[in-house]
Amino acid sequence: MTDRKITPARALRGESSLPGDKSISHRYAILSALACGASEIENYAPAADCASTLACLAALGVTVGRDGSRVTIDGAGLHGLKPPGAPLDAGNSGTTLRLLAGVLAGQPFESLLTGDDSLRKRPMRRIVEPLTSMGATIEAEEGGFPPLRIRGGPLNPIRYEMPIPSAQVKSCVLLAGLYATGSTTVLEPVATRDHTELALAEFGARIATTSGMATIAGGSQLQARSLEVPGDLSSAVFLIAAALLLPGSELRLTGVGLNPTRSAVLDFLLSMGAPIRITGRRTLAGESRGDVAVQYAPLSGGVISGALSALMIDELPMMAALGPFTGRGITILDARELRVKETDRIAALVENLRRMGARAESFPDGITIAGRDAGPLHGAEIDPHGDHRIAMAMAVAGLAVQGETTVHDADCVGVSFPAFFDTIDRLRE
Ligand code: S3P
Repeated sequence: MTDRKITPARALRGESSLPGDKSISHRYAILSALACGASEIENYAPAADCASTLACLAALGVTVGRDGSRVTIDGAGLHGLKPPGAPLDAGNSGTTLRLLAGVLAGQPFESLLTGDDSLRKRPMRRIVEPLTSMGATIEAEEGGFPPLRIRGGPLNPIRYEMPIPSAQVKSCVLLAGLYATGSTTVLEPVATRDHTELALAEFGARIATTSGMATIAGGSQLQARSLEVPGDLSSAVFLIAAALLLPGSELRLTGVGLNPTRSAVLDFLLSMGAPIRITGRRTLAGESRGDVAVQYAPLSGGVISGALSALMIDELPMMAALGPFTGRGITILDARELRVKETDRIAALVENLRRMGARAESFPDGITIAGRDAGPLHGAEIDPHGDHRIAMAMAVAGLAVQGETTVHDADCVGVSFPAFFDTIDRLRE
């Protein structure tokens, strides 16, 4: 449990690349494991969550090599995974657990999927229900929590309309669909990130997508690929926000993922007056990427609600922590899912923003934070409740307030952005 002191900064200046995107890294690793042949993944995320995925795949008999951010995976083929000798530990990673559950539902063996204290409190009925209707037998703890004991086998195709917006649930069902006898369709009334659909197509699966719907053909054979993961926009947002808050900032972030199902946060920041410029846009393996330049600017504030809340779900903590520095404040609605992330992010944000002197109120599905008129913030003791994004959002706020801030349990940033504090130290003035 390391404490990290944050002192006020004048500016963030310079250039940085970003660690590989966490969501995309998980998907490339899992699909490489199920493909025929050897895949190479460049810029694989250094995130602890993505290491959990590699460790689980190795425990399922897949040969995984790693040299820094370069990962090589010898695919076992769709039917080549081996029964694990011990419980599979997803650590803190909901994506690891939920996506692998879809794969394991199709295996002719039993496996047990578990995780850390936080993950064992996260809801899994959302995947148990569709996987059970496909024919898998899954036991969860009372209340639908991990560990999950999964007895898999050949699955029935389903047509599944998602009751909540969740890319993890969508991906779980599509991966299980690889093992179904027929075509599995997922319908999503509210759009979520589409990395699984793009990656499945890239690995050669027979997948058809239209707006709000994806259909995968069971038995699709996957072929190994050489791929490069774009920089993680969700991590970049912490640096972008810091630059926007600190007068004199000028920052250029290279090779950042700009998939339209992830980049709504940039549009929201633009709408608040943020001078963000994108250059060098290119698309590899269906994933758009480019260089993002940003400078300091006063932000007006605004409301995030409806479909936008789902598209910006991982950026909402940072947007909330920008609230006290904006003209009108920030209000977030329709974001009940924030309550079941690595921690209850609505409660954690209200608690920590109030410690800094902000006026913050919560609703069951959101939060409202008063803008600059409510008075300046001050340094505080921050308890991130073990949540990487709370730690980083509050650390960024700490750069722009008077006095010193201490982020407790600061190592939790390693879940997604291990070099976060070092990157800030390198760029700050
Ligand atoms: C993710 C989906 C989102 C997001 C998480 C990563 C993914 O979760 O919050 O950080 O990689 O599919 P939900 O599916 O629970 O919304």
